[in-house]
Amino acid sequence: MPEADALRADATVTRLALASLTTLRVGGEAEVWTCEADVHVRDATRADFRVLGGGSNLLVGDGGVPERVVRLGRGYAGTRVLDATGDAWLGAAAPLPGLVRRARQLGLSGLEGVLGIPAQLGGAIAMNAGTRFGEIGDTLREVDLMLDGRVERVPAADLGLGYRRSALPPGAVILRARLRLTPSTPERVARAEEAVDAARRGQPKARSAGCAFKNPPGDAAGRLIDAAGLKGLRVGGAMIAHEHANFVVNLGHATAADVALLLERVRTAVGVALEVEWRRWGLAGGEGAARGWDGGHAGARPPMDAG
Ligand code: FAD
Ligand code: EPU
Repeated sequence: MPEADALRADATVTRLALASLTTLRVGGEAEVWTCEADVHVRDATRADFRVLGGGSNLLVGDGGVPERVVRLGRGYAGTRVLDATGDAWLGAAAPLPGLVRRARQLGLSGLEGVLGIPAQLGGAIAMNAGTRFGEIGDTLREVDLMLDGRVERVPAADLGLGYRRSALPPGAVILRARLRLTPSTPERVARAEEAVDAARRGQPKARSAGCAFKNPPGDAAGRLIDAAGLKGLRVGGAMIAHEHANFVVNLGHATAADVALLLERVRTAVGVALEVEWRRWGLAGGEGAARGWDGGHAGARPPMDAG
């Protein structure tokens, strides 16, 4: 059997609209490789690729992306391996909300600050997702990466984690992560979560990709956008949320071009240099590339996200 066919028998390869795999629900098609084991990830990453987690921090262009989109499947998504010791290796597709819930049930402290973040563990690490109550990096000990066809174990301290950023080696796929949580009680964990829940209450429920911009030092992007009077500003099906000005919501028919133009209008109107928090994939001319928003990709190296 030719090698490509043998692979397809293992990793599942499907052409899909990335809108269906992202929380903002915009984005065109790509060839999506769903991998259930390290060997599939190794093979899937032999050609140009991008890695998709929960798709909750992504703006994907309307034309999709030409590279393979590598996803980790159910084989990487289990949360039950987290036990009362609080020290566990978890697959990078483990859903963060499920991990937060399980930690609370087991009376383990450390994940309260990431309550309400709809990420997968790998995507949470890549973005060092968090709130002012805590980040995923606080509990992270080490990761296994697929890098240039080999599995490498890397301590968290070497991942360059900061405010909504990591410095993963280009082309690395996080396969697994070791978290170390602290024994506490379900009641205390639930109490600590209350403050995080309260801080999130003003955020919109409509489809979004979370905050669009990072907070500039000493200020909040949401406050600045609100003060500029931009709540409710619309381009096509994309709108600045009334509930929180740093959220762009999809009214149901938004395109990536709508969203990119809306972000551009906000940046111009606010008059303070705001850095986009989302990773952007495959944005074509009218969707921001001309302004350098899309890192695109070059040649044989796996493409870097713009972010
Ligand atoms: P994706 O969006 O799929 O990908 C994000 C980046 O991670 C991409 O560059 C991707 O290539 C990379 N990546 C994903 N998986 C892997 C992997 N296994 N190996 C290597 N790289 C990988 N964020 C916060 O920080 N705090 C919040 O409070 C918050 N609230 C949100 C609320 C809502 C309603 C929504 C929709 C989003 C929110 N976000 C928040 C944004 C988002 O959830 C985070 O950025 C999250 O970390 C993205 O994880 P993901 O798995 O969805 O990654
Ligand atoms: N504000 C306004 N108008 C708005 C929104 C906010 O005036 O429309 C003001 C608030 O009154 C407050 C300040 O701006 O004084 C900060 O607002 P908020 O407390 O809502 O926090 P944030 O800085 O906007 C951050 C994270 C969120 C995270 C929350 C909860 C960033 C960019 N955002 O929001 O993360 O959920 O704190 O801790 O760091 C994300 O990164 O995607 C995200 C949603």
